[in-house]
Amino acid sequence: MTGHAHGRRRALVVGIGAGGLDQVTVEAVRALNAADVFLVTDKDGSGGAAGAGDLVRLREAVIARHRTDPERRIVRVADPPRNRAPRDDAEYAAAVRDWHAARARAWADALTEALPDGGTAVVPVWGDPALYDSAVRVLEQARGLGADLEYEVIPGVSSLTLLAARHRLVLNRIGGAVLVTTGRRLAADAAGGTDDLAVMLDGGLACADLPGEWEIHWGANLGTDDEELVAGPLAEVLPAIRAARTRAKAARGWVMDVYLLRRI
Ligand SMILES: C[S@@+](CC[C@H](N)C(=O)[O-])C[C@H]1O[C@@H](n2cnc3c(N)ncnc32)[C@H](O)[C@@H]1O
Repeated sequence: MTGHAHGRRRALVVGIGAGGLDQVTVEAVRALNAADVFLVTDKDGSGGAAGAGDLVRLREAVIARHRTDPERRIVRVADPPRNRAPRDDAEYAAAVRDWHAARARAWADALTEALPDGGTAVVPVWGDPALYDSAVRVLEQARGLGADLEYEVIPGVSSLTLLAARHRLVLNRIGGAVLVTTGRRLAADAAGGTDDLAVMLDGGLACADLPGEWEIHWGANLGTDDEELVAGPLAEVLPAIRAARTRAKAARGWVMDVYLLRRI
């Protein structure tokens, strides 16, 4: 990573951890310091969560903590509208596809305008860019739109990694498999016989309705001062999880949670 590379327009998708100022890798710090501009959308990382403003502030705090040059150019790209009430999986897939195409166009235009003579744009991404984040796909599409662009991905500490660390967990049972899934798919995935599931993007505690017996390791607002952790047999600890969610929400104005379920 060499900072300004004249003539070349380069984007770095940088995982900045899931909320903690310290969960940023040395490689990510180097990338944050190589940025000529930061490309951000105001909804990054929130997954639609309420209180996205606080997440934006957290992201800015991570950048401010690790960038030695306090000067920075931030280019905000307006997020195109998205159909948030799809009726089925096909509509959901189509809504996401259209949204990504519109974002790719917006990002390609923003990058061309911000870096007319080349340089490095950093796209800070919540957690790790490889899990439930669209930045990599959007940039790949933007590259195809004539933005004359190269991009690299710098991995980050995911909320899922942080969950495992906080609970001192190994996500898989010995030699076993784990399915990483979302709240909206959980019921179907569990009904399909999967015994070990890591669940993200679940605003409504979908695990509460699962038949069968499960053990849960749950965490909310990980990495922040208002982190919450609960573990135990699901049926027993659900009230504690609900109370912890309410606490986290009251403390910060938003709650994001991630959990591991194991069929007992
Ligand atoms: C759009 S996804 C982004 C995931 C992110 N790329 C990562 O690696 O953590 C947002 C989801 O990640 C999880 N998440 C992100 N940050 C979190 C945090 N600080 N504590 C708990 N869960 C978090 C939640 O499941 C949330 O719904």
